[in-house]
Amino acid sequence: MRHLISAGELSRDDALVILDTAEELARVSDRSIKKLPTLRGRTVVNLFYEDSTRTRISFEAAAKRLSADVINFSAKGSSVSKGESLKDTALTLEAMGADAVVIRHGASGAPHRLATWVHGSVVNAGDGTHEHPTQALLDAYSMRRRLGRLEGLKVAVVGDVLHSRVARSNVLLLHTLGAEVTLVAPPTLLPVSVETWPCQVSYDLDAVLPKSDVVMMLRVQLERMNASYFPSAREYSRRYGLDRDRFARLHDDAIVMHPGPMNRGMEISAEVADSPRSTIVEQVGNGVTVRMAVLYLLLGGSEPAIGGTA
Ligand code: NCD
Repeated sequence: MRHLISAGELSRDDALVILDTAEELARVSDRSIKKLPTLRGRTVVNLFYEDSTRTRISFEAAAKRLSADVINFSAKGSSVSKGESLKDTALTLEAMGADAVVIRHGASGAPHRLATWVHGSVVNAGDGTHEHPTQALLDAYSMRRRLGRLEGLKVAVVGDVLHSRVARSNVLLLHTLGAEVTLVAPPTLLPVSVETWPCQVSYDLDAVLPKSDVVMMLRVQLERMNASYFPSAREYSRRYGLDRDRFARLHDDAIVMHPGPMNRGMEISAEVADSPRSTIVEQVGNGVTVRMAVLYLLLGGSEPAIGGTA
């Protein structure tokens, strides 16, 4: 594997190697000295054209814990605002010797194009409304850690599927790993192509909740909405929000997830978000470990993943 662009291109074995490597690396994160020498001398560039908190910091922490040199590039304040194209930016990074480029871009397909221009590995950190494979990997990892398995798990992915790269990547990966996904959304927030996705679809959250082992709430992506997709925030919450009453319909071992950032009070109530059965904060921590595994496996660290501390 040279690049990680789509969750759909991962075989079951590829995905399990990533999750198992992350599991090994998690042991390092428990040590007081978290750094490994594995990617010493390698350069990882974080190329972020869209805003991000978790994902960007997480890739930076992951690369640094493996001792790689990290260059953070954000479009704001760079020559991108002077109109420099993605291709010219990519060639600049190439000249600086990037071994891996982690890219977040507003255009679906940008990482795919980038991979044709650079020699290093390309990691998709979110492209438009298309994919976000490392989010799906960290979600699967978080589910496996909490519930002990992925095979046969019933996962409800709820909300703004239309604008969500997290939903698409999760459906593809979870299907590969043997979980059963049901997307729950108002018809206006489902993409037309959803019929071809390997999952079920429902418009009725209350019917799906009692059967679910995992409920993954998606953010309503107001910044990508140029029209009205539902009558009002209140109405959306009433039908598709996870509040205390709905939470009570879940079975006792079920968990609640959200990729962040949350609209508290809209798709999820503060009480549910902060409950012990929510994995939202854990997902962030697991994100670092899973991204360490991805970078390690793509860059083929010359030393074993766990060798000692730097
Ligand atoms: C998601 C994203 O950017 O796609 N967030 C994330 O990476 N943690 C989801 C979102 O923005 O709602």
